Amino acid sequence: MLNRRNFLTAAIGVAAAGGLAACAKKEESGSTSTSGDGGSKAITLGFSQVGSESGWRSANTDSVKSAAKEAGYRLQFSDAQQKQENQISAIRSFISQKVDVIAFSPVVVTGWDAVLKEAKAAKIPVVLTDRSVETSDESLYVTLVGSDFTDEGRRAAKILEKVLEKAGHKGPVKIAQLEGTTGAAPAIERAKGFKEVMEADHKDDWKVVVSQTGDFTRAGGKQVMAAFLQSNPDINVLYAHNDDMAIGAIQSIEAAGKKPGKDILIVSVDGVKDGFVAMSEGKINAIVECNPLLGPQLMEVVQKVKNGETVERWIKTKESDFMQDQAKDALPTRKY
Ligand code: AHR
Repeated sequence: MLNRRNFLTAAIGVAAAGGLAACAKKEESGSTSTSGDGGSKAITLGFSQVGSESGWRSANTDSVKSAAKEAGYRLQFSDAQQKQENQISAIRSFISQKVDVIAFSPVVVTGWDAVLKEAKAAKIPVVLTDRSVETSDESLYVTLVGSDFTDEGRRAAKILEKVLEKAGHKGPVKIAQLEGTTGAAPAIERAKGFKEVMEADHKDDWKVVVSQTGDFTRAGGKQVMAAFLQSNPDINVLYAHNDDMAIGAIQSIEAAGKKPGKDILIVSVDGVKDGFVAMSEGKINAIVECNPLLGPQLMEVVQKVKNGETVERWIKTKESDFMQDQAKDALPTRKY
């Protein structure tokens, strides 16, 4: 079995032997073809990305593209612009192009069985990355490379306990929740994990008073938080399912004359650079990390799948949590 270092060494070797410069060409709107070594035996990977809704997503796209190039794969990359129908069309196009492996990060959890059955019938293995799907037939995909979002929700609740303690908070905790894209795995599971801890340990003192989707975008976070502050001016905690929504919400909190990180304590998920900047400025109190740098692991799995090797059903990402007082030290070394 190839370990990660051996695999990357082998991949770099293949690319060097090919001696051809990597090239990328725009084919049609949202779809790009990138060739690593250009050799005839190079793996062709069809990758359907969710979109470009957040800093996390941009870092994830860069990671996938650069890892594919380094591994010497031909990458057919398609941006679905947050639309499931675009992902389904992209997957169908990968099937008709007879790519070796299809990877995708599903925008929502349901509605994939038909297209996944088409991939199976064409004998093209499917690897999920970042987000999971709900399916009646587990054989329709090989593995998921990504985070445990339910655990991220639990970690968000646990770190909120520390934030409240550090702030010396007394009295009821009135939480506003900015949810991710409706129907997406991270939105469903981050809410679920948080609720689990809340119901087990804080039934009497914590309450989610308002909860709505901000679609994982800054604009969504800003707009929805402005409405939250109108309807519930006594909110004292914000739990945002990603940093971008928290950053948008901070603008609305400040516009309402309140201090983010003080009048409203903020916990968010991701750990992108802008989130760390807001945290080092005292505006976010804690961040639960969700690592977007999945490219190298994905390429390793794709190679194994292509070789017919067995892979784990869920390859989980390793992540940490950060309190505000760690932000300044951590910021210079953040990779995304
Ligand atoms: O699926 C991962 C989530 O999608 C990230 O937390 C969020 O920022 C992104 O849009």
